[in-house]
Amino acid sequence: MTLPGSVHAAGLPYQDPSLPVATRVADLLSRMTLDEKIGQMTQAERGSASATDVTTYRLGSILSGGGSAPTPNTATSWADMYDSFQTGAMATPLQIPMIYGVDAVHGHNNVVGATIFPHNIGLGATRDPALVQQIGQAVAEEVSGTGIDWDFAPCLCVARNDRWGRTYESFGEVPSIASSLSTIITGLQGTSLNGPSSVLATAKHYVGDGGTEGGDDQGNTVLSEADLRAIHLPPFQAAVQRGVGSVMISYSSWNGVKMHGNKYLITDVLKGELGFSGFVVSDWNGIDQIDGTTGFTAAEVTAAVNAGIDMVMVPTAWKNFITTLRAEVANGHVPLSRIDDANRRILTKKFELGLFEKPYTDRSFTATVGSAAHRTLARQAVRQSQVLLKNAGNVLPLAKDNNKIFVAGKNADNIGNQCGGWTISWQGSSGNITPGTSILQGIRAAAGPGTTVTYSQRGSGIDSTYKVAIAVVGETPYAEGQGDRTGTMSLDRDDLRVINTLRGKGVPVVVVLVSGRPLDIATELPNWNALLASWLPGTEGAGVADVLFGDYKPTGKLPSTWMTSVSQQPINDGDGKTPLFPLGYGLTYP
Ligand code: GLC
Repeated sequence: MTLPGSVHAAGLPYQDPSLPVATRVADLLSRMTLDEKIGQMTQAERGSASATDVTTYRLGSILSGGGSAPTPNTATSWADMYDSFQTGAMATPLQIPMIYGVDAVHGHNNVVGATIFPHNIGLGATRDPALVQQIGQAVAEEVSGTGIDWDFAPCLCVARNDRWGRTYESFGEVPSIASSLSTIITGLQGTSLNGPSSVLATAKHYVGDGGTEGGDDQGNTVLSEADLRAIHLPPFQAAVQRGVGSVMISYSSWNGVKMHGNKYLITDVLKGELGFSGFVVSDWNGIDQIDGTTGFTAAEVTAAVNAGIDMVMVPTAWKNFITTLRAEVANGHVPLSRIDDANRRILTKKFELGLFEKPYTDRSFTATVGSAAHRTLARQAVRQSQVLLKNAGNVLPLAKDNNKIFVAGKNADNIGNQCGGWTISWQGSSGNITPGTSILQGIRAAAGPGTTVTYSQRGSGIDSTYKVAIAVVGETPYAEGQGDRTGTMSLDRDDLRVINTLRGKGVPVVVVLVSGRPLDIATELPNWNALLASWLPGTEGAGVADVLFGDYKPTGKLPSTWMTSVSQQPINDGDGKTPLFPLGYGLTYP
């Protein structure tokens, strides 16, 4: 299908793919007006801009915020939406393609039917860089199949306080795990950005987002520069070495200074010392926070752009941003050289992605969304992410045949709960939100001849004839600050009640913990026969059953130190506190 806009090629140098990218960038830049340059630096949310706006205001980028999807929410509908915005870009005089960003942080998680992989904390437990690279490749195929060419992932945060609502977006509490699993960038981008399914990756959130006091999301990270560099910077060095195309700035502050205005760390360290040659994007309305008041001022626009932010994620007030930045250039507060540098960085990635040659969706990847092959890969990732923390009397693995198994708990048969936040909607939600296999369905499928599997969420009906009871408990979905836990970190009353109901009949109890972080369970643990940390496994819950029945012997290792009590938070390897389970702990079967 020849879409409009792809026939205007005037044969100008920047439109010649045989020329070096730097040559094409220089030629294009020389033809651009200031408005066109400012447009390239502007990212608007899909709900607040139209394809006509892309044309009129020369918008360089569109994003979907978490859960912002077309109707119907199908892969084809996403691709049609993407192509519509792109025709808006192709209708501009210079036909600079727009780039569209989404948070595909554990699969193409905004899209119903997409494969949902374990969240990063579970991938951290695998310690398997090759597996994680394969996941990046699979996610890139599903994202490309919907037209999207930019993924705001991976989060390379180093979560130091489990109270933080984004702990599950972290690969672990030490930088070495995130650095080693930055292979996901190569999976997403390919070995070169112009691969058929390549999407631009984003190392986020630069820098120190996981180190805030009290685990307060968007809070203040109080650290010496030496400690900031030792704990939070290494994963970004690894990402830059892998050629990550973009970096997103953290909402958090470092020693009281908002990252979105920190020229030293963004320009001198990230771009200068680390040699990052991609482009820097702000977080959602992140520039508004620089002065601590709502909305953005001219001073904040200037501070952010002069600090080294190249593209501004200004979801709704993007017209005001364009007007303000234009005025700040006119009055000399923002030098044209900074505008040109930002454009060179953005255009370089658009050329490298091949967007000028292939601006529209490659529909050959659309069928990969939720494909059997990707679900098989996700199930393997689930297996490898399970961490066995207790197995008294080798109650695990379960016998498949001639067994009598009772399953209970709010997270046993709930796809939404096992996927967690950033799934279909921003915060995620309980229930059958997208096609997948619940943990209970996985258990039923694995059970062999002569075996009974009974399920009651609340545990009613349990009796002493059952040989084992499995309580699948933990957390319900949340994202970002809404997941911050400032009080207790224990299981909720329903979970504790269910477990006690099961224990009350003298049946051995296996607890499967579906949560985005370690929880405060030390006082209950002695009453449990076994404990399996499942983290947030995603749509392929059968991978949990594979471990429960021994089809896969657990190999997962804790990516985070497990507290003995919530009063220990933050608790991290080497801090002298005595954990319930140390970083790296994990049992297997004899
Ligand atoms: C959010 C998150 C960031 C995400 C962005 C776009 O607030 O902080 O991780 O990429 O906005 O959804």
